[in-house]
Amino acid sequence: MNQRSDTNLTRRDFLKTSAVASSAAFWPAASALFAAGQEKIRLALIGCGGRGNGALKDCLQAVSSLGMTAEITALADFFKDRVLKTAQEHQVPQDRCFDGPLAYQKALASEADVVLLVTPPIFRPRHFEAAIAAGKHVFMEKPVAVDAPGARKILEVGQTAVSKGLAVCVGAQRRHQASYLQTKAAIDQGAIGTILSGQVWWCMGHLWFNKRLPGESDADYMVRNWVSFTEMSGDHIVEQHFHNIDVANWFLGKTPKQCVGFGGRARRKTGNQFDFFSVDFDYGGGIHIHSMCRQVDSCYNRVAEFFTGTQGTAAGSGPVNPSDGKRVSVPELQLHENPYVQEHIDLLKSIRDGKPLQDAQWAAETNLTALMGRISAYTGQLVRWQDLTDPQSKSPWYNLTLSPTAEDFEKGTVKAPADDVIPIPGTEPA
Ligand SMILES: NC(=O)c1ccc[n+]([C@@H]2O[C@H](COP(=O)([O-])OP(=O)(O)OC[C@H]3O[C@@H](n4cnc5c(N)ncnc54)[C@H](O)[C@@H]3O)[C@@H](O)[C@H]2O)c1
Repeated sequence: MNQRSDTNLTRRDFLKTSAVASSAAFWPAASALFAAGQEKIRLALIGCGGRGNGALKDCLQAVSSLGMTAEITALADFFKDRVLKTAQEHQVPQDRCFDGPLAYQKALASEADVVLLVTPPIFRPRHFEAAIAAGKHVFMEKPVAVDAPGARKILEVGQTAVSKGLAVCVGAQRRHQASYLQTKAAIDQGAIGTILSGQVWWCMGHLWFNKRLPGESDADYMVRNWVSFTEMSGDHIVEQHFHNIDVANWFLGKTPKQCVGFGGRARRKTGNQFDFFSVDFDYGGGIHIHSMCRQVDSCYNRVAEFFTGTQGTAAGSGPVNPSDGKRVSVPELQLHENPYVQEHIDLLKSIRDGKPLQDAQWAAETNLTALMGRISAYTGQLVRWQDLTDPQSKSPWYNLTLSPTAEDFEKGTVKAPADDVIPIPGTEPA
């Protein structure tokens, strides 16, 4: 599907991509991973919130662009009203709707071929493990964990998925977006030489804060307010800035060796997250990426990536500017204009082709990178890659598990951390 052509990368039309490719004839014959002749894909959604509803619609659009049909076998959410709202929109019978902290198990017991895991991040490792154990192909949103043991669980279960031939797609949509794929291809062709440094940004306003309702349980409060608690989200350097840190790891083809960062809180009152982070990621060999993220209203916004190489510069989504006007070969991509749909097309196509996507490893590695930055900012210490990945490092952060855990929600033992109490660098172990 990808023709190649010589392109002058300094021309503005470098980033022009073809419009939507939607014909079923575009796709190769069905693979053995779908039952022979199966035209209907069975889907289950776990987490019927903003992105869950969006991901379901994106997946349904991908299904129809492949000339297939879909059946929703199960919907699951922590809260009954949310699952019923999604059910009403898609006319899913009530006996396929499940709520509560164990609803995911009922959804996984349905006949779904593919499950969409779109809850807050705290639940991802546990739900991913259960989904792969149940033999499901998985789409899961980023981030994939809130602590290092969770990220390592994703790595481990990802290996099981590989051995079972199950597809895993992680919602880092830049990896399915033509402009990013073309920049990556150009860099791989040497357009800007060797990357020496870069900056990645997610600076924007706050998401939302929910005040505690009278008599509300700790568990309900934390689920409703998950973007305010590090235990639920990983903090926004993990939850949101994941995307830009991922572009750095992806373009460099490696993970950092160590980092030093700082951050703080100026505006928030609920939960325990920082408002801003600034982290220097050291990839070794003199290569540094500066990561900057902020969730504070009425400030300058920027969500982007930029790289400086020995022979030019490139923004994540282009343009690519070789210092010597060099011409390199890049793919002309026929992708869906919406990368959120394209990621589902790529997932389903990978299953049909018998070459299942295997995103768990790089997603866990990006997650670990963001966690390094968060831990460094919270503690004020230098954090090494091996602190989170190597038990021999004897690092206090290797086994650091945030509490409450996903299991606490299932057991009913959730105790919410105090609002507005945050880590103080130089004094806290994590
Ligand atoms: N790729 C992207 O650009 C993008 C954009 C937005 C959100 N996201 C990610 O999607 C995920 C969900 O975010 P959102 O914005 O939809 O949040 P949301 O709060 O709108 O929805 C989360 C839903 O999950 C439900 N839930 C919570 N715990 C559950 C459990 N244990 N079992 C079943 N359901 C549970 C909640 O009740 C809620 O309905 C997050 O990981 C977020 O980072 C990704």
